[in-house]
Amino acid sequence: MALTKSPYRGTRDFFPAQMRLRNYIFQKMSEVSELFAYEPYDGPILEEVDLYLAKSGEELINEQIYSFTDRGDRKVAIRPEMTPTVARMAAQVHREIAKPIRWYAIPNLMRYEKPQRGRLREFWQYNADIFGAGELGDVEIVQLAVEILRSFGATDAHFEILVNDRRVVDSIFKKLLRLDDPSAQKLYKVVDRVKKVTPEALAKLTGEILSDGGSAELFSEYIRLTSFTDLASFLERNGLSDDAREFLTFSKNLASFGLSAYVKYDPSIVRGLDYYTGIVFEIFDKHPDNRRALAGGGAYANLLQIFNEQPLAGVGFGLGEVPLTEFLTSHKLLRDFSRPRIDVLVSYQVAGAEKTALVLAGDLRARGLKTEVIFGETKTKKVFAQSERKHVSSIVFIGEEELRAGQVQVKNLETKATLSIDQRDVETIARTLKGQT
Ligand code: HAM
Repeated sequence: MALTKSPYRGTRDFFPAQMRLRNYIFQKMSEVSELFAYEPYDGPILEEVDLYLAKSGEELINEQIYSFTDRGDRKVAIRPEMTPTVARMAAQVHREIAKPIRWYAIPNLMRYEKPQRGRLREFWQYNADIFGAGELGDVEIVQLAVEILRSFGATDAHFEILVNDRRVVDSIFKKLLRLDDPSAQKLYKVVDRVKKVTPEALAKLTGEILSDGGSAELFSEYIRLTSFTDLASFLERNGLSDDAREFLTFSKNLASFGLSAYVKYDPSIVRGLDYYTGIVFEIFDKHPDNRRALAGGGAYANLLQIFNEQPLAGVGFGLGEVPLTEFLTSHKLLRDFSRPRIDVLVSYQVAGAEKTALVLAGDLRARGLKTEVIFGETKTKKVFAQSERKHVSSIVFIGEEELRAGQVQVKNLETKATLSIDQRDVETIARTLKGQT
């Protein structure tokens, strides 16, 4: 039986056209990260399963992790997320390096999910995390997320960042609704699904957790809050203002950094991962056809303690390249990546010009021009036909006349200008090709 040519379900082959898009996306992410003085890091693709068992949350562990026992009888997993790895790495070095630590990575991750629009099994996820930064770290992370999306041409008309704070949710669940830990955990899971269930199903699910009518009413009031101002007055009415001081400062900081247009308070954002302890957020596409999270993140104060380390607070987010591509496509923010971009196509039409063409190509590459040589004597018409398959800026022709006169003919495909230049005057040829003359 012949083997399938298709990649494993939920994974992709990246042909040059897909690589061009991927490289473009990664390059933008890296450029903006570097502008914020975040430094790149990476880790192994395999980690011990225990690393995720500690704090990554039920769904990831029970349903999504790819794990196996290695030949040495160790339970290992293909990384389904990067946060435990970055925490493990920070735990190794944080005592020796200056804080805050600002790191970014673009790892490939694997999750056993049902492949669908915006969700695959293997995907790349941009991660940025800052450790030991205090409350301004929370704001910088949001600012970085905004700037990355803006670098692709997106604006507040295209996306929104929905934020919440687990300290506030904890306070409401425990002090106001008087839930014990297990019930609060259950309610977290329900809240995480609020937008996916009908109001009737929600009432049923919360009814199982909130036994008295009073707390059910308070919960339904809470889950309908839509702004920081609403939240502040809800908390004040219920004597919980003190527990939201950090979150309300965060909201004021967002405003003073000019981020209010992008950020909205949303009580249903709690995030499925167990390690978050402070602000949490998700970025959503505003396009009605693509209402999936592009990114998710939050603050985690205690993750380094799983390595027996002193606490070092971190905050960060993950942005998936699959939903990002859907987002950029639906808002027409991507250029055409189907054809490669080449600065110069060097061709020759007569025997004996081959060496001249190859030497010239080398000289042009040395001057930073992306240069491709068409091998073999090629008729002008065919050269133009070949140039159609790529984004070519200019063509160099070496025909019979040029060979005899020691010249080359340079044709700029954008301006349509044609010039004959001395073959040995590489500087002028290069400057002409770069449009500098
Ligand atoms: P997460 O919410 O699990 O968070 O994932 C963050 C983003 O990764 C999602 O919003 C989505 O863009 C992308 N993503 C997740 N699953 C898939 C999938 N199956 N296919 C394609 N893209 C996907 C985390 O992973 C946290 N560790 C992020 C973080 C970093 N928190 C703090 N620092």
